[in-house]
Amino acid sequence: MSSVLNDNNLIAALDIGTSKTSCILAYPVNENKAVIVGAGAFQNTGVKKSEIIALAPAVDSVRHAVANAENFIKERIKTVVATACVGSLSSAIYQDSLDLGGSEITQSDINRLVAGAQNKIPASEDEILHCIPIDYSLDSRHSITDPRGLTGKKLYLSLHTVMTPPYPVRDMNSVLDQAHLSCSKKVAGPYAAGLACLTQEEKKQGTAVIDLGAGTTGIGVFYEDQLVFAAQLPFGGDQITKDLAAAFKTSLDNAERIKTLKGSCLPSVAYEREEIDIPLIGEDESVSVIRVPRSQIVQVITPKIEEVFKKVKELLDQTGFYDICMNFVLTGGGALLHGINEKAASILQRNTRTGQPVRLFDKQEIIPVHAYQSYMGCIGLLHYTTRILLNTPTHQRDISVPGNKFVRFFRWFLDNS
Ligand SMILES: Nc1ncnc2c1ncn2[C@@H]1O[C@H](COP(=O)(O)OP(=O)(O)OP(=O)(O)O)[C@@H](O)[C@H]1O
Ligand SMILES: [Mg+2]
Repeated sequence: MSSVLNDNNLIAALDIGTSKTSCILAYPVNENKAVIVGAGAFQNTGVKKSEIIALAPAVDSVRHAVANAENFIKERIKTVVATACVGSLSSAIYQDSLDLGGSEITQSDINRLVAGAQNKIPASEDEILHCIPIDYSLDSRHSITDPRGLTGKKLYLSLHTVMTPPYPVRDMNSVLDQAHLSCSKKVAGPYAAGLACLTQEEKKQGTAVIDLGAGTTGIGVFYEDQLVFAAQLPFGGDQITKDLAAAFKTSLDNAERIKTLKGSCLPSVAYEREEIDIPLIGEDESVSVIRVPRSQIVQVITPKIEEVFKKVKELLDQTGFYDICMNFVLTGGGALLHGINEKAASILQRNTRTGQPVRLFDKQEIIPVHAYQSYMGCIGLLHYTTRILLNTPTHQRDISVPGNKFVRFFRWFLDNS
């Protein structure tokens, strides 16, 4: 197990996405603050639907993104905290209880209870990404935030686990090995997205973040400040680009440009009159173009977007989390599509907004404001590191994080300062 921080005390956050890899280097200050000193990104052709499909281009993408960030400080980094580039996620809640007989609850009671709940996770080869104590109840008292020192008959715990199949994790490890990086923690993408974009109030009330990426749609539900559900659907913006390319017989590059510049998922009478020139595949733009009303582009995009939000709602309904989602926050590159907020609100039947990553201290403006959305995964990882890896009390800690020397020292320091 490597330390969270590099030798130069930097956090290196690495997000290996389907369209690009991005990396941010930052010094931790406190649980809500980190000073960003380097950032870099590079396109990725080695990943599809958030799974490695070819090692060499994925390694190349990681190396370039990290090197671009390192260029700011002219130093090398060795250890990263990374979003899990592993395709699917499965989420489950395990419960256990402990008889107390009226005595004061101690840390060792909590440890026993947590171990009991962990024992209920069925044995499998799957990798546990997160194991989060999401709720303590004491007899009939619910939502106990810190059971230590309280008294009662029985203490109950709900433990949320996020798991992923083993082979994609091994492939991700191979990519990192070949890029000469070790990984101190892999974080589920929707967890990072929520930490990057949701306000404190939203995380408490019950809010789902929907990360509309190039290859996947991540869903993370937060309630009482904890991640209580996570999933990743194998559908992303790349599919819409492909559909546009097929519908208008144009190249993927042209389809991508049309989608981002003229795409929308809301109808408008004005779009009937507005005409767009689309170059035919393999043809010189000036020689062979078709002219289509913008409304036809909207007609290709809209059903796909509707299908995504219907699937999200169906999944949340089936798993019983829809009722606690008071709000939905859309993020990822797909959240930049014109009209997406209104479309999501009409299907999800809730308050919906698009979410920008909450800005951490970036004194030197290393990341231009307009590029913040593309560093969303890394910003989420910085929040995870400063808040959860370095500052969470033991009874609320993500237990999948193995203890390490620095974290122990940091906690000792906090407890004694
Ligand atoms: N203005 C826009 N309108 C519509 N789609 C957009 C816009 N800008 C970017 N996108 C889409 O966003 C996607 C890229 O988003 P993002 O950078 O979040 O993906 P990623 O993190 O690489 O992928 P994943 O999270 O699925 O691994 C692409 O499909 C791109 O076409
Ligand atoms: Mg992403």
